[in-house]
Amino acid sequence: MQNKHTTKRNEFSGEIAVIVATDENNAIGKKGNLLCHLPNDLKHFKQITEHHTVVMGRKTFESLPKGALPNRKNIVLTSQKHAEFTNCIVCHSLDEVWQHCENEDKVFFIGGEQIYRQIIDRANTLYLTRIHHTFDDADTFFPVIDPDDWTLVEEKKQDADEKHPFNYTFFTYIRNDK
Ligand SMILES: NC(=O)c1ccc[n+]([C@@H]2O[C@H](COP(=O)([O-])OP(=O)(O)OC[C@H]3O[C@@H](n4cnc5c(N)ncnc54)[C@H](OP(=O)(O)O)[C@@H]3O)[C@@H](O)[C@H]2O)c1
Repeated sequence: MQNKHTTKRNEFSGEIAVIVATDENNAIGKKGNLLCHLPNDLKHFKQITEHHTVVMGRKTFESLPKGALPNRKNIVLTSQKHAEFTNCIVCHSLDEVWQHCENEDKVFFIGGEQIYRQIIDRANTLYLTRIHHTFDDADTFFPVIDPDDWTLVEEKKQDADEKHPFNYTFFTYIRNDK
């Protein structure tokens, strides 16, 4: 049986990038929010996604403290027919997302779990921040990826400090040719 969110493949010819911060168990969130506050990861996220299109699920949009992310085209996925979100394009399927990305070279999928699960198999690039900690109370998770599918192209270790309670590492992976 098809999932209600299943869409056709190959509607978009540009680069599909996924960006996420996970703990050591692939956890990404708890109670509608991020696992912890890492200011340098937010800077990293901004630096990578600014001036691009970002696609997110309705729950992730609602978790953003100041609404739509500035200097980016924000696309929010929802099944709610008449939903409107300030400074966002509302889409009701991935097919509709691709229609809004026809002129884009690169589109970022920024979460949450439901969105990552629908897009990861099509992603070309994965920006993964691994927080070197395990959060017991997490309730949303990033899908497990097969390391054979990906090549690590960049790795930057970051130490905990007064603003960052855990060590973390910025990884960039590119999907291997099939
Ligand atoms: N660590 C990270 O990097 C990171 C990044 C982003 C988010 N997060 C966390 O992830 C959690 C949220 O994840 P989540 O999985 O619960 O929610 P989500 O993926 O953000 O949003 C889910 C909602 O998106 C809509 N949706 C999903 N697929 C759709 C499709 N194909 N077509 C139309 N609408 C679609 C539905 O909205 P409707 O119910 O309105 O129909 C669905 O309820 C939060 O805790 C957040 O903080 C973490």
